[in-house]
Amino acid sequence: MRDSYGHRNGFYKGFTLWFTGLSGSGKTTLSKMIADRLRRHGAKVEVLDGDVVRQHLSKGLGYSKQDRDENIRRIGFVCELLSRNGVIAIAAAISPYREVREEVRAKIQHFVEVYTCCPLEVLIQRDVKGLYKKALAGEISNFTGISDPYEPPLNPEVIVYTDRETPEESAEKIWRKLKELQLITFD
Ligand code: ADX
Repeated sequence: MRDSYGHRNGFYKGFTLWFTGLSGSGKTTLSKMIADRLRRHGAKVEVLDGDVVRQHLSKGLGYSKQDRDENIRRIGFVCELLSRNGVIAIAAAISPYREVREEVRAKIQHFVEVYTCCPLEVLIQRDVKGLYKKALAGEISNFTGISDPYEPPLNPEVIVYTDRETPEESAEKIWRKLKELQLITFD
């Protein structure tokens, strides 16, 4: 957004906002909300969503540890390129393995990790994509949380509890952290 003088009302740095959490925990929803709000302030933003990235940049990769780590390294590589050039990169991928998340963090100057925390029982009940049902029936193997591990972050910058917060409340928590870290000055 620009004021009547054509100036931006607020500043931002290039940074990477990295969502991690189980399937259906709210990564995509929150990443879109934050991206929209940032764009309304005139910021340049790119969202790298696991489901989308897997159709392009990571086409052909599966869900073994090796393939997931490769997927995360590729997303991390693009996030680094973008954020070092002043763009805000938002990643939304399960990224279940702590070690490769830390590897990506170490390469990116301004890195903010958001853990979308939600009990598995709630996700199974919601089952927006119908994947938990299939995973529980054994129709999908290596499904995160059911037959594959998820390692929660030990020190994320933000934890949102998506079973007990509204999306607006969670987005506001993230926004406040970005301001506190002086990555944005927008209201
Ligand atoms: S990650 O583990 O490599 O970070 P990513 O976020 O890109 O995963 O992709 C996860 C999405 O792929 C899920 O939201 C779901 O739609 C789909 N998917 C298909 N098979 C699996 C599986 N075995 N485990 C998790 N997600 C799967």
